[in-house]
Amino acid sequence: MSKVLLTGGTGFIGSHTAVELLEQGHEVVIADDLSNSSRDVVNRIEQITGKRPVFYELDVADRKGLAKLFAEQDIEAVIHFAGFKAVGESVVKPLMYYRNNLDTSLTLLETMAEYGCRRIIFSSSSTVYGALSPCPFREDSPVGGCSNPYGWTKFMIEKILQDAARADEQLSVVLLRYFNPVGAHESGLIGEKPGGIPNNLMPYITQVAAGIRDHLNVFGDDYETPDGTGVRDYIHVVDLAKGHVAALGYAETHTGTEIFNLGTGKGTSVMEMIRAFEKANGLQIPYVIAPRRPGDLAYSYAETKKAESVLHWKAEKTIEDMCRDAWRFEKGML
Ligand code: UFG
Repeated sequence: MSKVLLTGGTGFIGSHTAVELLEQGHEVVIADDLSNSSRDVVNRIEQITGKRPVFYELDVADRKGLAKLFAEQDIEAVIHFAGFKAVGESVVKPLMYYRNNLDTSLTLLETMAEYGCRRIIFSSSSTVYGALSPCPFREDSPVGGCSNPYGWTKFMIEKILQDAARADEQLSVVLLRYFNPVGAHESGLIGEKPGGIPNNLMPYITQVAAGIRDHLNVFGDDYETPDGTGVRDYIHVVDLAKGHVAALGYAETHTGTEIFNLGTGKGTSVMEMIRAFEKANGLQIPYVIAPRRPGDLAYSYAETKKAESVLHWKAEKTIEDMCRDAWRFEKGML
């Protein structure tokens, strides 16, 4: 069992990972500046697991604050979730995205080196595959060609981590390329809570269901896909969280860099998702067909064999589970 630091640990994916780690007997320390989450998430993690993670309200780019954390806690591994993640905002404020996402990662790596911590798991994204290769994306498919600064920050941090592992043979780096995480913990206590207008499909659908927005805009119905709408590999956030627990186990026994896709390998279109949500929850989701969103691909889905064979991890939850759990969480917030 390890003592693990989760940067961004009160966020959507971080909080679910904290729950899975605590349930497996790991110790969890969270560092989060609460810029996109709330302190109450710590209470909710405790409510679910019966264990309270240690919490530091901290911007990971704050070198002194981070050094204090490492001096006080005997951190054995880090899962680095902290970062800005809104694709559209990154186009409008690129420097803010490069500064924040790169600064936090560099400060973290330097501080880890200073304190002899040599295991890091990084929240990367399938967005690094860009439009360069056909689906399914494999870990050895070409990367780059990202359509926005957010994606490039993921690409650059992957590169930084790979170089760091090349230079330090004791360093263990695991890059996890997430596909489209959705859903929520089945307790309804933690989930995705976007500030302002949601960028992503599932939180937008749940806000339409809740009456917060009057309809969903379907961004394009003229893609080269079976029903013309965009196809994505949606993965339940609890499955994704379990993938991190598996990656942590892997990092304990390997050095160098290893890359894993975390997806289901199955594509679902926007229209299929609307219908699945309506069926799972007995609701109607009004929608209109809108123009394509710049930068969107027709298809994005994973080749999942590597995670299955090396991490012995596989996503298990269905689209129905994702729709039901996302709605349960949204209802709990009303
Ligand atoms: N979509 C709509 N209407 C909406 C929102 C989305 O039709 O209001 C469509 C999109 O056009 C796309 C699909 O729903 O076809 C999924 O869109 P999301 O915004 O939910 O997800 P993306 O695949 O665009 O992006 C997500 C994450 C990124 C990550 C990327 C990796 O938001 O952080 O997956 O592929 F980089």
